[in-house]
Amino acid sequence: MPRVNRTAVLSLLIASSSVFLLFQLYYYRKYVGKVRTHVTVNNKMKAAQQQNTKFLALAQRFRLPMFLTDIAALTLLSQDALRQRDRQVHEPHCSFLCTNRPITSFALHANLWKYDPGFLLAAEQKGFELLELRGEDPRLASLDTLSGEDIPLHLLFRLHGYIIQVVFLYERSGNYLWHGALRLKANMDRSFAPFKLLDYGHHAGAYDRPELVLTVLDGLDVQVPRNISRFLSEQQHARFLECRYRDARNFLQLYPDDSSLAAVDFRRKVKSLLHLAARTLARLDIPFWLSSGTCLGWFRQCSIISYSRDVDIGIFIVDFRTDILAAFRDAGLSLKHKFGKVEDSLELSFLSEDVKLDIFFFYENKDIVWNGGTQAKSGRKFKYVFPRFSLCWAELLELKVRVPCETLDYVTANYGASWSVPMRSWDWKTSPSNVQENGVWLLSEWAEVIQVY
Ligand SMILES: *[C@@H]1O[C@H](CO)[C@@H](O)[C@H](O)[C@H]1NC(C)=O
Repeated sequence: MPRVNRTAVLSLLIASSSVFLLFQLYYYRKYVGKVRTHVTVNNKMKAAQQQNTKFLALAQRFRLPMFLTDIAALTLLSQDALRQRDRQVHEPHCSFLCTNRPITSFALHANLWKYDPGFLLAAEQKGFELLELRGEDPRLASLDTLSGEDIPLHLLFRLHGYIIQVVFLYERSGNYLWHGALRLKANMDRSFAPFKLLDYGHHAGAYDRPELVLTVLDGLDVQVPRNISRFLSEQQHARFLECRYRDARNFLQLYPDDSSLAAVDFRRKVKSLLHLAARTLARLDIPFWLSSGTCLGWFRQCSIISYSRDVDIGIFIVDFRTDILAAFRDAGLSLKHKFGKVEDSLELSFLSEDVKLDIFFFYENKDIVWNGGTQAKSGRKFKYVFPRFSLCWAELLELKVRVPCETLDYVTANYGASWSVPMRSWDWKTSPSNVQENGVWLLSEWAEVIQVY
């Protein structure tokens, strides 16, 4: 064999074995890496499991009935109902409460909470670090008093970097549950928890009282909402706005409320009408919000405007159902007028005693939302334009109702920058800042779009 050839073969051999060695090294690293991350995930799950076990045992021992409100865990649980069978075949030991998130959240009815030093001590002995977040009690804030007492809003338990959040739920006068926003005070440890990842506390929330059931999750006794999907959808739209009592009080000092018998009587009627409307629409599963003067009354004075003569609510036209009419009739209201049609400017007006309930249907169009108005005698059409808004919960007259979250923008669009000054004379065709002429109904359509009773 010639010498040149031997050198070439040798080089080739060395080169190929180096490549093979490198490949092995790469493969080894990749494989080991995989094993390692797998081990970390398993360890994390184990740690989460241990924390939850310790925590729930502690809560049980001190008779604090927590219920699971964790979005990731409840989502897994609601999906799991659909594949019960798989679960029985190979049930992993931690499939719900170990969600790969460093947090699990629970809620507690605040009236069951007491400062039991035994509980706090036991938590510390188990290794938990505690952070308590407090805030003003909104149930005491009203037009008369502003100094709300300090109450606990959230408790955070930390163990090995794993967080358990306990959200305190308070009963509010509108027969619903409320939790406060989580706000860190200046002297608090901002690195205590990954606050941005918390399911609860970015803002206050309002909930109907959920029915709970006791179940066993990953071997632990846990209470969960009976209808999980309902709770999850409620959670997505739970944001609650407190009325601006301070501003309202300032307003009422400038413009004292009418305390005449007629005004008191009107407020009583509005309250019962609003409660009736809320019940009727809830039965139909149609969301509504306070609009026009009723919205202004809540925003400006945490009450209703006594010289307004009606109750105004808004409904998105996509939520319209023909059985609204029958539902209100069955509830004892009489239809006063029906203007427009589903495709355009629909507006319903009902009468209860001598108070009018105006239902305006809102149409979405690119970045605006509008509702229509119709003048019965001339067939003239009007259009009221608002910037887009989302819906929040609020409380008015002991009722949990929705208002546009961007209330200031909504009210300003409708009433202009001087919304804070009462205007007793108001023409719905010319006074609103956002009114536009919108043509005239065709004579041939009048019978359909202008119905007065
Ligand atoms: C759960 O709630 C949803 C939404 O409110 C409802 O449609 C569904 O019927 C409820 N399921 C049960 C089993 O009650």
